[in-house]
Amino acid sequence: MTLLEPSRVDSWKALPAEQLASYEDPALVTRVLQQLAGRPPLVHPGESDRLTRYLADASRGRRFVLQAGDCAELFSECTVQDITDKFKIILQMSLLIFYGLRKPVVRIGRIAGQFAKPRSSDMERIGGVELPSYRGDLINGFPFTPEDRRHDPLRMLTAYDCSVQTLNWLRSLNDSGFADVRHPEMWALSYRNEREAPRFYLDLADRVREANRFLELVGGGNQEFMSRVDVFTSHEALHLDYETALTRRMPETGGRLYNLGAHFLWLGDRTRQPDGAHVEYLRSIANPIGMKVGPDADPAEVVEIARRLNPDNTPGRLTLITRMGVAKAKSRVKRLAAAVHKAGLVVTWSCDPMHGNNIRTRLGTKTRSFDDILAELKLTEESHRAAGGQLHGVHLELTGSDVTECTGGAVGPSEEGLARNYRTHCDPRLNYFQSMEIATLIADHF
Ligand code: PEP
Ligand code: CO
Repeated sequence: MTLLEPSRVDSWKALPAEQLASYEDPALVTRVLQQLAGRPPLVHPGESDRLTRYLADASRGRRFVLQAGDCAELFSECTVQDITDKFKIILQMSLLIFYGLRKPVVRIGRIAGQFAKPRSSDMERIGGVELPSYRGDLINGFPFTPEDRRHDPLRMLTAYDCSVQTLNWLRSLNDSGFADVRHPEMWALSYRNEREAPRFYLDLADRVREANRFLELVGGGNQEFMSRVDVFTSHEALHLDYETALTRRMPETGGRLYNLGAHFLWLGDRTRQPDGAHVEYLRSIANPIGMKVGPDADPAEVVEIARRLNPDNTPGRLTLITRMGVAKAKSRVKRLAAAVHKAGLVVTWSCDPMHGNNIRTRLGTKTRSFDDILAELKLTEESHRAAGGQLHGVHLELTGSDVTECTGGAVGPSEEGLARNYRTHCDPRLNYFQSMEIATLIADHF
């Protein structure tokens, strides 16, 4: 792949940039970035290249992409339990999808680095007090106090440490046979008492057992296939100074630049200005990358950015992640797919049915309806098929634990039930059951 490679990784600095942190102490920022630039990478470029090949397979319909995790990871949730639960839910969902679609699943976590958030407003007002908005643990703290909301460069070091610890534990789990299909009890469903479990859960448990038996069958004696899986990491490439510090040129990669803080990086819907800094940064790295596309995007502009990001039209390099909202999904996906097809671009199509469906309850709680999420996913899949193409993957905000943040689903909370365990600092996530219900839908209908 010959990228239009800028001579330096920081060519983005000359361009207008949205959504960056604003620090008070430039000398401290420089010291932190120097330290980060000297730390070991989190991933190897060979792993990112493998992911590009898998995503290329997905674009030909030979694999299915499951990208999932928190809206915003929290430093306080960098714990064994939280990380293990997320790994577990991704494994279980991918097992159901593999079983249903009979094709391998590419697992990409929004994990080990998803710490920075774009915001629609710089400031937040509560009562008579106005403070900077929370921008993710990488930049500032969630509590509504002036100290917490100050942009603190030292948080970059903590984000790096949490990312390393998270990925280290994921790799350990994987290497020690946690993902081994012959030991499903290790990632068994965690309902406390099966006799009290709802019907949906019992069906699910049966399906997971069935899928496990199937995997064992197709896996045969293949030790490697049975006991380890590929787990890739991803996050939004938002905080460009931080990303640049983790971007390296390695001799074994023909001198190309890679972001070695994650395997896959994506461009947010708010930062995809064609002549902006974020597009320029992503142009310079050889990782597989994604671009979020919202309902207001002009298809011609998306094509232009796609050409910039993937000038050689390399399969697997670019994933377009549509997030149109249930009301517009059908018309917008159809229009965009037609433009991309007409331009002759090879992309991997993913659907994020979460970000176009944010609503507030009467009490002001930020939520999403499970029905809307499911409906956008179905409409997107149908729209691609109607346009002669195919949906290749899904991008979800979820967690392995028992949160009550999105309403609905077979056993999900009502609006009144949201308060029971509402934990997100950012967007509402699917809980364990809602996630498994989505996996079941994909397995049954796609
Ligand atoms: C996100 O994925 O958390 C996000 C902010 O998405 P988008 O850029 O699509 O709004
Ligand atoms: Co989000």
